[in-house]
Amino acid sequence: MEIVLSGIRSTGHLHLGNYYGALRNYIKMQDNYDCFFFIADLHSLTTHPHPDDFHSGVRTILAEYLASGLDPDKSAIFVQSDVPEISELYVLLNMISYKGELERTTSFKDKVRQNPDNVNAGLLTYPVLMAADILIHRANLVPVGKDQEQHLEFARVLARRFNSFYNCEVFPEPKAFNFGDDLVKVPGLDGSGKMGKSEGNGVYLCDEESTIRKKVMKAVTDAGPTEPNSPMPEAVANLFTLLGIVSTQDTVDHFKESYNNCTIRYGDLKKQLAEDICKQTLPIKAKIEQIYNDEEFLKRVVKRGTERARESAVATLREVRKAVGFRSFLGFDDK
Ligand code: TYM
Repeated sequence: MEIVLSGIRSTGHLHLGNYYGALRNYIKMQDNYDCFFFIADLHSLTTHPHPDDFHSGVRTILAEYLASGLDPDKSAIFVQSDVPEISELYVLLNMISYKGELERTTSFKDKVRQNPDNVNAGLLTYPVLMAADILIHRANLVPVGKDQEQHLEFARVLARRFNSFYNCEVFPEPKAFNFGDDLVKVPGLDGSGKMGKSEGNGVYLCDEESTIRKKVMKAVTDAGPTEPNSPMPEAVANLFTLLGIVSTQDTVDHFKESYNNCTIRYGDLKKQLAEDICKQTLPIKAKIEQIYNDEEFLKRVVKRGTERARESAVATLREVRKAVGFRSFLGFDDK
């Protein structure tokens, strides 16, 4: 059975980008693959969260995973920092990762531009840690959104490079995965770019119905088309992209037609969009709080998931250490 792995950073709540770009695929993949899904708490340290808030951030994503339909009977669900083998593989992969290629990563360049005062080494080697997450389970498929495509390409490069450097076949090359043809980019409601936690343009799985309606009704549009079949400005095209993600084809066709014959009323489109978002997210929202507060359940889920994840990670690391040439005097590499 092919191995699937993916994860989300523990920064804030999950939004529609996380859900439609990643989580919805995780849920669909659970029945047909050997699945590992985790919370990337080490990755979230690049932005220096306060220690008092750190654990609740992890617990939030865990509760939102489970409320969305991740099933601990089907998938190994765990927290990155509970699997120390990941960090060891990260160190080893750092030795075959080069400054130049890391500096060229788009996400690194964006972060440097956004936060010039916090260009830490963890930020630079972020894709190496991500490759360690994937390669430690020898994953074949990695469900992610479009923004992670370059990181996945780097994980493939490292898998190939490790195998050839150490003349072994330890790692398969992981592939980015989406059920549709292309990876998804969910746009924000503010007229340009993608929906993101730090962009402040998100609709969250935990949002109240009234909040969702308010956010959608405030979305950026324009005065409307004056010529039939006009090209769409980005803000309007983004609303149609969102509609395409959450609504039926009939609904999308109806509003496309009214755009093309210049009778569209953006207020109606937004009302429909808000309603269809609510249909998807409110059943999830209804479960989040109860799961968040059920400490015993969360512990059981993570205990099971971590056991499976560590078993797989230890087995890979044993092969890796052998390939690199470790022979511990203390017998660590003997088994
Ligand atoms: P993160 O936490 O930024 O995002 C988690 C997942 O959500 C997807 N996503 C989106 N997809 C479509 N449209 C959007 N607007 C949108 N915003 C977010 C992301 O593509 C991602 O799949 N580096 C990763 C976490 C990670 C990871 C890994 C993922 C760490 N190790 C190993 C896969 C495998 C990240 O920062 O995701």
